Amino acid sequence: MTVAAIERAGQALRDGRLVILPTETVYGLAADAANPEAVAAIFEAKGRPRFNPLIAHVADAAAAERLAVFDDRARRLADAFWPGPLTIVAPARDREAVCDLARAGLDSVAVRAPGHARARAVIEAFGGAVVAPSANRSGRPSPTTFEDAMEETGAFAAEAVDGGPCAVGVESTVVSVLDGRVSLLRPGAVTAEELEALVGPLDRAAGEGHRSPGRLALHYAPDAPVRINVTEANEGEILLGFGPGAGDPRWSLSPEGDLRQAAARLFRLLREADRERPVGIAVVPIPAQGLGEAINDRLKRAAGFVG
Ligand code: TXA
Ligand code: MG
Repeated sequence: MTVAAIERAGQALRDGRLVILPTETVYGLAADAANPEAVAAIFEAKGRPRFNPLIAHVADAAAAERLAVFDDRARRLADAFWPGPLTIVAPARDREAVCDLARAGLDSVAVRAPGHARARAVIEAFGGAVVAPSANRSGRPSPTTFEDAMEETGAFAAEAVDGGPCAVGVESTVVSVLDGRVSLLRPGAVTAEELEALVGPLDRAAGEGHRSPGRLALHYAPDAPVRINVTEANEGEILLGFGPGAGDPRWSLSPEGDLRQAAARLFRLLREADRERPVGIAVVPIPAQGLGEAINDRLKRAAGFVG
């Protein structure tokens, strides 16, 4: 990957075109956050409902604070976890820089400074905020390799930046910091324990405004039906294991029982299993704590349990 490819991506964004963007969590489909037509093209490409707002990706906390109003705790979270897999929802400050359609008309805005060097390079080459939902078609597992991203929405992108396999493999943690409360809207790579160590107990009973519209729909589902918390596969099912001795190592989320490895492999294995056209995909129980919360959240949604 050359500097020229990054420059081309920056130019494509300025021209109002879409770009496949690597991040440390999952691949994104990116557009100029201030350009309503470019943002509309994202919703179109993904088949995403327009009530579901997008995350604005920025270079750093200073850029984020030009888009959003941060209180002390939002600032503390950004200081601790950026650049990295945390998204902060805060009151919108600049309604033009992240256009109405990108915010789905909300008064709040989601911002994140990604940790992947190539994501940051593209944002810098572009010179503004970039909205980027996961590069899957709506409702499908997020792509965690360049090849999977190209297969999902590559046809809609003018440029595509290869950043290799995503190190984290599940989407960023989303927290809202509104009216003095910090709520967990989507469990992710930064764990609830890590957040609480910094800002105290999280508000888990999400109230008005402390909700993610995107969490209402069935999500992350492969074509094959998914069953979770099972110990034995049925005839024709592929069993995804975890930990020593749990089935075929090829289909193990982590033979050593490591949650980080399991997160990094989760979506890739769901996609690979799906390609075999099995009767179904069965998944063994995954521990609930730490990163396990995000893994179980995605699996529940893949299995069709919503909300
Ligand atoms: O890791 C990630 O966050 C990836 C990479 C590409 O950065 N992006 C990603 O974007 O997962 P997306 O669009 O697939 O998920 C964004 C989530 C959705 O659940 C959406 O509803 C929520 O963030 N969200 C965005 N703006 C919001 C807001 N103002 N209030 C509440 N939730 C919001
Ligand atoms: Mg998504």
